[in-house]
Amino acid sequence: MRILVISGSTRRESLNTRLARLAAATLAHDTVTVVNDLDRVPYYNGDVEAAGLPAPVVELRQAVADADAVVIVTPEYNGTVPGLLGNAVDWLSRPPENSVLRGKRVVVLSASPSRYGGIRAASHLRTVLGHIRADVAPQGLSVARAPQRLGDSSADPDLVTDLAKVLNEALPPAPREENILALAA
Ligand SMILES: Cc1cc2nc3c(=O)[nH]c(=O)nc-3n(C[C@H](O)[C@H](O)[C@H](O)COP(=O)(O)O)c2cc1C
Repeated sequence: MRILVISGSTRRESLNTRLARLAAATLAHDTVTVVNDLDRVPYYNGDVEAAGLPAPVVELRQAVADADAVVIVTPEYNGTVPGLLGNAVDWLSRPPENSVLRGKRVVVLSASPSRYGGIRAASHLRTVLGHIRADVAPQGLSVARAPQRLGDSSADPDLVTDLAKVLNEALPPAPREENILALAA
């Protein structure tokens, strides 16, 4: 499987990027790309779109189109998804009838220092993705008290176990060739 992991934060010490990297390490048997530079994507503007897509938008859309599944890791700002990530999702939702997110399996994760782990942002993001008709995985994870649980050098082993369970259930392995042949026989 080719998996794209998108962090909704560009902060150097970002907890969400740390969680994105942990997810990528958990998916080590897959081809995983981590994106944590959404600040390259300009603000959505219909005039800009009509004049020709900016290169970072084309690249992000292509990366989503090329992926079998996407993991989005969202911070929580004021009880919802930060503008940076919302803006990227707005671009990805266009054109509405042909969005690269349509039908795409997406897993939503979040991390916050709070005891709720950004669960409101995760919930709002799931609603938005559902509106775009992404295939939002029922499984997800919101990491509360993230500075402690993600650790400076190593993550809480229980978190690693929970994350692996969520990702394994939400991203079932692609059928291997020998299984397809067995089914065809
Ligand atoms: C403008 C702003 C609003 C915030 N609002 C919330 C919030 O509603 N809930 C929450 O759990 N954390 C909130 N936080 C704290 C963030 O969870 C925290 O800064 C976190 O580290 C951001 O994610 P990052 O580490 O990936 O950059 C807010 C932070 C900022 C800067």
